Amino acid sequence: MKIFIDTANLDEIRKALSWGIVDGVTTNPSLIKRAVDQLKKLKVRKIDIESYIKEICLAAGKERPVSLEVISLRAQEMIEEAELLYRKFNPLAGNVVIKIPINTYTRMGGVSHYEGLKAITHLSREEIPVNTTLIMSPEQALLAAKAGARYASPFAGRVDDYIRKKLGIQFRKQDYFDFDLMQKITKDKLTRFMDSSGERDAASLYLDENIKEWKDLGKDNGISSGVHLVEEIVNIYQNYRIKTEVIAASMRNGRQVREVALAGAHIATIPFNVMEEMIQHPKTVEGIETFSQDVVPEYRDLFEE
Ligand code: E4P
Repeated sequence: MKIFIDTANLDEIRKALSWGIVDGVTTNPSLIKRAVDQLKKLKVRKIDIESYIKEICLAAGKERPVSLEVISLRAQEMIEEAELLYRKFNPLAGNVVIKIPINTYTRMGGVSHYEGLKAITHLSREEIPVNTTLIMSPEQALLAAKAGARYASPFAGRVDDYIRKKLGIQFRKQDYFDFDLMQKITKDKLTRFMDSSGERDAASLYLDENIKEWKDLGKDNGISSGVHLVEEIVNIYQNYRIKTEVIAASMRNGRQVREVALAGAHIATIPFNVMEEMIQHPKTVEGIETFSQDVVPEYRDLFEE
């Protein structure tokens, strides 16, 4: 699985690149805002975002794609913005990928639900690589691939947040949540209710409000977690040998990264703090302390020239 870094912070990008584990960079308007806020905090007098993004593209280099997102909601405007971003930044290292939301329909700017797809189709025909963003269902991922997107980004963490919130569970963004356990609890509840329902016919059980509620508990239209979403998309793409690569996005913690790797995601785009978490384990710390204490002089001498 390839690893992208999910940030617009140049220092973080440079640090992670120096570890030798980064295959690409993803940004979005919120991540750019965070980077700009950070620069303001550092009292950078005039923030030149164009030069800043150029530095990101150059730091990543030609083998590592850098996703830059459009800001408009209508297809034609998104296409124009995408072409502009591509013209401005792609000549530097040939690594620019344009992020287009799968569906830009909103109460403020909504025209049709298909503006994103129209833009993806157009740009893909022009051979401008597209990373389809804000994918929350396998159906959306299938449509993105049909439109020719190079990448599809399911937002695993946001789907988790949505399901956890629906369950009324308090959580911090980075917390791991055991969705498998939640499914077991739901199944158990359902089984107990059905066992106590006596000899009711199948139709009345199927239509029972309690059963309906428990069947969908902890799910979003059949999707039980962000990792499950990624898994389903990978399976669909494999069924039809679709070339679009799956970028598991909106990663919240190391264990979720492990699970999307097991699910077969081609890429995971990971925030810097999650990368830092992934390298740590208390037994590694303990082990290195013991090894350091156990170095005998005879062994140390070996390293003297
Ligand atoms: C990826 O392309 C997205 O920019 C990102 O993963 C979103 O993550 P968030 O849900 O933590 O904002």
